[in-house]
Amino acid sequence: MDALPYDPLFEELINDYLEKGFAVSNKLFNKLEIDGLRELALKERSEENFRLAGVGDKFNFQKERSIRSDKILWLYRADAHDSEKIFFEKIDRFIQYLNLSCYAGILRSEFHYAIYDPGTFYERHSDQFKGDDSRRFSMVLYLTEDWNKGDGGELTLYMAASANGKVLIEPMSGRLVFFDSSIEHEVLLSKAQRISLTGWMRRR
Ligand code: OGA
Ligand code: MN
Repeated sequence: MDALPYDPLFEELINDYLEKGFAVSNKLFNKLEIDGLRELALKERSEENFRLAGVGDKFNFQKERSIRSDKILWLYRADAHDSEKIFFEKIDRFIQYLNLSCYAGILRSEFHYAIYDPGTFYERHSDQFKGDDSRRFSMVLYLTEDWNKGDGGELTLYMAASANGKVLIEPMSGRLVFFDSSIEHEVLLSKAQRISLTGWMRRR
């Protein structure tokens, strides 16, 4: 690969992913970048602009609080603030890296902020809609300032190969999770406000 400079963090993430079907990194975004994104989500973007998230695709869309109860706000590159521009720049480099090193064939990506208020969750699901596998990879970047054990909101990945079939990921600030969008997963009941930036890398 000669078109892109070697990036040890991307390399680690991809190798981890290839080995397990998911990968976790606490280093891809630094504290300043995370703080910037959290500030934006809570202040400039403002919680009151977030909307209750739906389930299903455009043909079968519903807002179903018994399945998921987070609220979301989509990000658009055209009106990105500085911290969001930095975020997109890094994600785009990562996608180029994925495409060149793994022939991943990612054509586009989409991201939204998500806020889980106390008492909210997202039941077990896959990010690929019925008969539509255009989402290839899922990515979540956690922004909650002071996540503590007991706050809940862990991400559970259902991985047949792991002990008891599950992997539990604690949503601490600055952590990034990257996984195959076909993997079923769930967000456990959150007892404190939980903020994240979630998105998908798509082949269509
Ligand atoms: C989703 C999702 C996981 C998380 O938004 O589809 O599964 O940890 N999010 O926030
Ligand atoms: Mn999901």
